[in-house]
Amino acid sequence: MSHDTPGSTATAAATSQQGDALENLLHENRKFAPSEDFAANAVVGAEAYAEAEADRPAFWAKQARELLTWNKDFTQALDWSNPPFAKWFVGGEVNAAYNALDRHVENGLGDRVAIYFEGEPGDTRSYTYAELTEEVKKAANAFESLGVAKGDRVAVYLPMIPEAVITLLACARIGAVHSVVFGGFSSDALRSRIEDAQAKLVVTADGTYRRGKPSALKSAVDEALANDGHTVQNVVVVKRNGQDVDWHAGRDHWWADTVEAASAEHTAVGHDSEHPLFILYTSGTTGKPKGILHTTGGFLTQTAYTHKAVFDLHPETDVYWCTADVGWVTGHSYVAYAPLINGATQVMYEGTPDSPHQGRWWEIVQKYKVSILYTAPTAIRTFMKWGRDIPDKYDLSSIRVLGSVGEPINPEAWMWYRDVIGGSGGKKNPAPIVDTWWQTETGAQMIAPLPGVTATKPGSAQVPLPGIAVDVVDENGVSVPNGHGGFLVIREPWPAMLRGIWGDPERFKETYWSRFEAMYFAGDGAKKDEDGDIWLLGRVDDVMNISGHRLSTTEIESALVSHPAVAEAAVVGAADETTGQAVVAFVILRGDAVDSGDEIVQDLRNHVGKEIGPIAKPKTILVVPELPKTRSGKIMRRLLKDVAEGRDVGDATTLADNTVMAQIAASLKK
Ligand code: WTA
Repeated sequence: MSHDTPGSTATAAATSQQGDALENLLHENRKFAPSEDFAANAVVGAEAYAEAEADRPAFWAKQARELLTWNKDFTQALDWSNPPFAKWFVGGEVNAAYNALDRHVENGLGDRVAIYFEGEPGDTRSYTYAELTEEVKKAANAFESLGVAKGDRVAVYLPMIPEAVITLLACARIGAVHSVVFGGFSSDALRSRIEDAQAKLVVTADGTYRRGKPSALKSAVDEALANDGHTVQNVVVVKRNGQDVDWHAGRDHWWADTVEAASAEHTAVGHDSEHPLFILYTSGTTGKPKGILHTTGGFLTQTAYTHKAVFDLHPETDVYWCTADVGWVTGHSYVAYAPLINGATQVMYEGTPDSPHQGRWWEIVQKYKVSILYTAPTAIRTFMKWGRDIPDKYDLSSIRVLGSVGEPINPEAWMWYRDVIGGSGGKKNPAPIVDTWWQTETGAQMIAPLPGVTATKPGSAQVPLPGIAVDVVDENGVSVPNGHGGFLVIREPWPAMLRGIWGDPERFKETYWSRFEAMYFAGDGAKKDEDGDIWLLGRVDDVMNISGHRLSTTEIESALVSHPAVAEAAVVGAADETTGQAVVAFVILRGDAVDSGDEIVQDLRNHVGKEIGPIAKPKTILVVPELPKTRSGKIMRRLLKDVAEGRDVGDATTLADNTVMAQIAASLKK
C-alpha cells in the first residue's frame, strides 16, 4: 500500500527528466567570462594558481601570515610525516577571536558594522566591531566563571541570532571547543551529541521564530539532560521570544544575568595552531553521526583566504550575506569565522524566506545593499517556483557576486540566479556565480571559480582553488581523462582539513583514507568535462542531501526500526525538484502491527522527527511486504531508488529472491 504525503507526486516526473538532462548538462557550452571591470578590480588574480603550484605549503604559509595575526609565528608550514594526521603551521600560536575582533578595533575599524541582524518578526540589531568585541569578552568571562576552561566542550543549541556568533567566538577565545547542534535536531539527537562530546556547558535560547510563530528550544535541552549520565554542569539561556520555560535552579542561567553582567575586560592569549577549535557532527554512512574535528590555524587561514578570493571581498565596501544556519558548517566557516577574520560587514537573518512574505530575502538585500549573497540551490529553486515577479519588485542592483553551496546546482537554476538576481534591473554585466564545492570535513571551500579569473559555466563547480589538489579517479585510483567520470578525491593535505573524528581515530582513517591509497575520498561522484572542469554528481555512498542538509539513510532506518510497529526499513534519497533529494522510506511492518494507512505513516514520520529531528522526516513512506536484498543480505537501495523515482527497475538479477520487486510493485499499485 502506498501512502504519499502532500507534494510527493511531482517527484517521479521531475526525476526522469533530470536523468535525461544529466548527459546534456555535462556538455554545457555556455561560458561567462568576467567583465573587464570586474577582472581589473579583483582581489585575487590568475597568478595565485601558479604561485600555489610552485610550492603549496609555502603558498599557505604566506596566506597564514598575511591573513592572521599570530601571537607566536610558526616554524613549519606543514607536518605530513604521519599521514593522514596533518599539522599545519607547526609551533604557531593564534587566537581566533582576537583575529576576528580585537585586532580590527586596534586597527581603527571599531566603528565598522560587523553584523546587521534581522529577526524574523522584524526586530533589528547591529553590532560594530567594537561592540561585538565587547560582547565576546563578556561571554568569555561568563563562560570561564561557569568553570569552562581551555579544552572543555561547549554544546551550542541556538537559533540564528547574534548570540550564536558571540558564543562561538567566546569559546574560541578561551580555547573551549564548541559543538553546535542545529536547532532543527530533536532532543534525542542533541543528547547523543552532548554525551559523545562530554560537554560541560550548554548555551541555548528559550526559543526562536519559525514562519511567524514562536518555537521552543530550551525544552529540548531539558529533555536531553533529563537523565543522569551526562557531564553538563550549566546551561546558559538567551531570552529570545519570552516564552515560558522550565527552570532548573543552580544549573540554568539567563544570558542577561551571566554574560551581560560580566566584565568587558578580557585578554586573548594565543592557542597552539593545532588546538581544537570545534566539533561538528555530520551524517556518515553508518548510523551514528561523526564528530568532525577542526583545529585553529589551518581552519582560519583557509576559510579567510577562500572567503576573500572566491567572493572577491572588498571589506571596506561590501555587504556580505550568507544565508546558512550556524548549525551547519557553512554557518561556521562563512558566518562565524571568515567574514569577521576578514573585517567584513555581514547580514544575519533569523527566519525563513517566506516570513512574512515571499519577498523577505530581497527586501533584506535592498535594505542593507547586500553585495555578496551566498546561498543554496534549494533556495534558488524555491524562488524560481515562486516566480521572478517577486524579486523583480526590489532593487537588487547592489549585488555583485553570487555564491552557491551544498548540492549540485542545475544549469536552469544557475541561469535564473544569474539573470534574475545577478542581472536585476537590466545590469549590463550580471554578477558572476561562484559554485563552491566543499564539505564539513574539508572545513573550507575546495573547488570554485575565482570570479575575476574563471569564465563560469552553468552547473559546474569547475576548478580546484589555488593550493588545493583535487582529482577525479576511477575505481583503481587512477586519474580519469577529460570527458570521464569517477570518484572525487583530494591528493594533498589542505589547511582546513578535518583532523579526525572526535574520539575515533580509526574511523577517520577507515572512512576517508582507506578507499584509495594516499588519497582523501570525499564520498562524491564527479566528472571532468572536455575542458577538464569538474562536475559534481552527488554522493556515491549512503548519505543523502536534502535541501543541502546531510542525512544518512542508515540513521533514518535505525530511527524507523526503533518504532514498535516496524520490522525492517530501507531509506533512499529520491530526486526532488526543489529540495534536490527527498527522503523516501520503505518499511515492512511487524506481523502483529496493523497497517492503518495514513495513521501509521503519520506516526512513523513523527517518530523520526522525535528521534532525529523534523528535517529527517520522510516525505514518503511506503509500506511493503518485502525488501530487495542480495544473497548476502544487503539491501539493494538502487532498486528502491528506481521505484521511488518512478523508473523501470534496473538490473535485479543479484537479488536473493527475484520476485521481490514484483511484490513491491504490486503492493504499491493497490
Ligand atoms: C555536497 C556543505 C555539489 C557534496 C558545505 C558534499 C555539493 C556534501 C556542493 C557536503 C556543490 C556541497 N556542488 N555538491 N557546490 N557543495 N555539496 O558536509 O555531496 O553539509 O559531499 O557541507 O554536500 O555536505 P556538508
